Amino acid sequence: MSKIQAAITAVHGYAPEYVLTNHELETMVETNDEWIMSRTGIKERRILKGEGLGTSDMAVPAVKALLEKRGISAEEIELIIFCTTTPDMPFPATANILADKIGAKNAWGFDLQAACSGFVYGLATGAQFIESGKHTKVLVVGFDKMSSIINYQDRATCIIFGDGGGCALLEPNTEGLGIIDSVLKSDGAGRSFLHQKAGGSLKPASHETVDAMEHYAYQEGQTVFKFAVTNMAEVAAEIMDRNRLTPDDIAWLVPHQANKRIIDATANRMGISADKVIVNIERYGNTTNGTIPLCLWEWESKFKKGDNLVLAAFGGGFTWGSLYLKWAY
Ligand code: COA
Repeated sequence: MSKIQAAITAVHGYAPEYVLTNHELETMVETNDEWIMSRTGIKERRILKGEGLGTSDMAVPAVKALLEKRGISAEEIELIIFCTTTPDMPFPATANILADKIGAKNAWGFDLQAACSGFVYGLATGAQFIESGKHTKVLVVGFDKMSSIINYQDRATCIIFGDGGGCALLEPNTEGLGIIDSVLKSDGAGRSFLHQKAGGSLKPASHETVDAMEHYAYQEGQTVFKFAVTNMAEVAAEIMDRNRLTPDDIAWLVPHQANKRIIDATANRMGISADKVIVNIERYGNTTNGTIPLCLWEWESKFKKGDNLVLAAFGGGFTWGSLYLKWAY
């Protein structure tokens, strides 16, 4: 029998309705559209508005649409890997909450925390359960409600992040399609440059931590930029070398949407022309775990069976990684 590989057999996404434009941000902090566009490539981002709505509430409509598209029921899902940095609650896992909300009664699941590299880590993790034969239907979900941890008085972070994401179903494939290889890396020494100071066991939430705005994302942008621009490009080049891929072999580069300049640097390092690079950062900003599935969803109709896709991401941790797959439908 030929080798079992994990193939993506359906994708879907969801972005909340509310559009937060650069012009609206100009009324909130000292910034301007020209600065934001030239430094990041972001024009607008989506925000989940409304009381009592968390990250799982964006995942529910996306997963329901995916199941309908694939023609399967929620009961058929065996494992849910929920990649998020903004879980509904510190515990239980948002994977459990999602399973309950969609009626995935036979699934087990867990949350995966790898910041902006989460979806790449999640696909690589889910693939192991398919390749081993343990499961045949693994749902990998990547969503963030970044607006829940962003200080809209901090111009260094509020211009970058947005809410949204998507999901992908992994199933076995024996035709040589699906996930071929992944390179995953991390360096915890980078944690001081991008993190949330309070709300964890190290510094539980208190009046003092809230007064000090420590329940929001903290970022040293320049340092993060330097590491991201080098490491995302390096890891994407590494996966090309390992799999003897030339730029011509690659149909699409699917990069994490952190900053247009980081995306361009990665594409340049790989020798990939702009028409093969998926970019929607202008409309969504950085949705953390949501960027790559949002890209897959929006470009799904352009992919052809057998297309070589390279995914690449970098995020807080630091974490970074790249994944090579052959599109299966
Ligand atoms: N509007 C206008 N000016 C701003 C601003 C804003 N939103 N944010 C910062 N500035 C100012 C700074 O105060 C600074 O002014 P000064 O020179 O008078 O001190 C100047 O612009 C340059 O700031 P700097 O932080 O050096 O800008 P930058 O070119 O590094 O761009 C980021 C800032 C955040 C856009 C950039 O560092 C970045 O994209 N970093 C990576 C972030 C990222 O990708 N994070 C997620 C990782 S997955």
